[in-house]
Amino acid sequence: EVWNPNGKYRVISTKPMPGTRWINLLIEQDCRVEICTEKKTILSVEDIIALIGNKCDGVIGQLTEDWGDTLFAALSRAGGKAFSNMAVGYNNVDVNAANKYGVAVGNTPGVLTETTAELAASLSLAASRRIVEADEFMRAGLYDGWLPHLFVGNLLKGQTVGVIGAGRIGSAYARMMVEGFKMNLIYYDLYQATRLEKFVTAYGEFLKSNGEQPVYWKRASSMDEVLREADVEAILVNCSRGPVVDEVALVEHLKQNPMFRVGLDVFEDEPFMKPGLAEMKNAVVVPHIASASKWTREGMATLAALNVLGKIKGYPIWGDPNQ
Ligand code: DGY
Repeated sequence: EVWNPNGKYRVISTKPMPGTRWINLLIEQDCRVEICTEKKTILSVEDIIALIGNKCDGVIGQLTEDWGDTLFAALSRAGGKAFSNMAVGYNNVDVNAANKYGVAVGNTPGVLTETTAELAASLSLAASRRIVEADEFMRAGLYDGWLPHLFVGNLLKGQTVGVIGAGRIGSAYARMMVEGFKMNLIYYDLYQATRLEKFVTAYGEFLKSNGEQPVYWKRASSMDEVLREADVEAILVNCSRGPVVDEVALVEHLKQNPMFRVGLDVFEDEPFMKPGLAEMKNAVVVPHIASASKWTREGMATLAALNVLGKIKGYPIWGDPNQ
């Protein structure tokens, strides 16, 4: 799909992206926008080299693509100056290779913070209250009346949520769980989450002034400390990247401990799940949709376009390792 065919700068998007604002921004700045509409979900390095061709000023790519030496060399040969990953994570991008070929790299932080935190909260709730199992039970026509033991789960209020990585998303999730569900908090991060700490302290004071139980919170000195002290250790939620969890060990743990629950948005060997995971009733699994709200995805597309445009036009760009 080609927009503004006579535009001076050739910008490629390896996938159609939500909204039209990003396209309009590029067109307004004299770009010819080419959107790859290839049906297959994951483009190979060869597919992308073919898209880049002989002249390409910038590419907006996706986290499923392997942006390493080969692609940055191809982009640089085509005169490309910018690559923007439509994601906040850039573990699929070899930033050193981009530097080597003089290609600036951008990502899309900020616009997905709350959306991702909301999904993490959704998975926490779905896992603790057994929502998916209960939904399947209803649809199967198995509900024949209220019972005291039917799908009994855990109350979050008063338990301690453990957060590993209290950056933008981790802190937003922690706030939701503390304020929304009156949970205590233990977090681990290399850096002190000062704003989060101030918020939790002030919220605790507010609860105390209303005669309610204040919030207990703590910055842990290790991940192990979080795992030891968090009550919601019985629920594991992963909205970061799949490989942070050993999925084979997880399946075994889920089998041995039916009360242990997990909510996963990402998988070790995405898009696949390790054998056995799909059969586990105590797992809630969703296909990497943490940032999938309309507002966020349109925002990510817009930021990704601005990143590429910024480099072509000489404006500052997000996440440029050279700045
Ligand atoms: C990201 O942005 O890194 C997420 O994984 C997808 O939005």
